[in-house]
Amino acid sequence: MLIVYFSSATENTKKFVTKLGFPSKRIPLHKADEPLIVDEPYVLICPTYGGGASIMGRNSKPVPVQVIRFLNNEQNRNYIRAVIAGGNSNFGTDFGKAGDLISQKCHVPYVYRFELMGNDEDVELVREGILANAEALGLSPSAA
Ligand SMILES: Cc1cc2nc3c(=O)[nH]c(=O)nc-3n(C[C@H](O)[C@H](O)[C@H](O)COP(=O)(O)O)c2cc1C
Repeated sequence: MLIVYFSSATENTKKFVTKLGFPSKRIPLHKADEPLIVDEPYVLICPTYGGGASIMGRNSKPVPVQVIRFLNNEQNRNYIRAVIAGGNSNFGTDFGKAGDLISQKCHVPYVYRFELMGNDEDVELVREGILANAEALGLSPSAA
């Protein structure tokens, strides 16, 4: 069972992932950093950074470039099993939109979205959901 996540300098997503308590790996922030290559199935947790573009009728690019770079690696892409997205409901219909795009492009279910660093209920639902569906999602069962 592995969580792969991206989090910017504000680290909301990192706080959410830490509360889940599963093994995790972080997609690096800077291009010069050592790229992350995974070798086991994982759930991707990704914040949305489209700036609410589609609300203003503009083309939305909600997935952070670091996550696009990570998923452009074929091995990384092959191991994704589900996506969870972070965001802010102030962005209306663009709330958590990164999850829609990743789900479409990688053909995996978009299983949950949460605001900012998530609340206790979000943490509980995601923990239970991942544990209950680990086998169905093709994640190796774990004692976490
Ligand atoms: C420039 C910018 C654009 C954002 N665009 C969106 C958006 O389109 N939809 C959304 O749901 N949240 C959006 N957010 C909110 C972030 O997804 C949210 O703050 C998230 O928790 C950031 O995670 P991080 O601190 O781990 O990077 C945006 C935030 C910023 C700073």
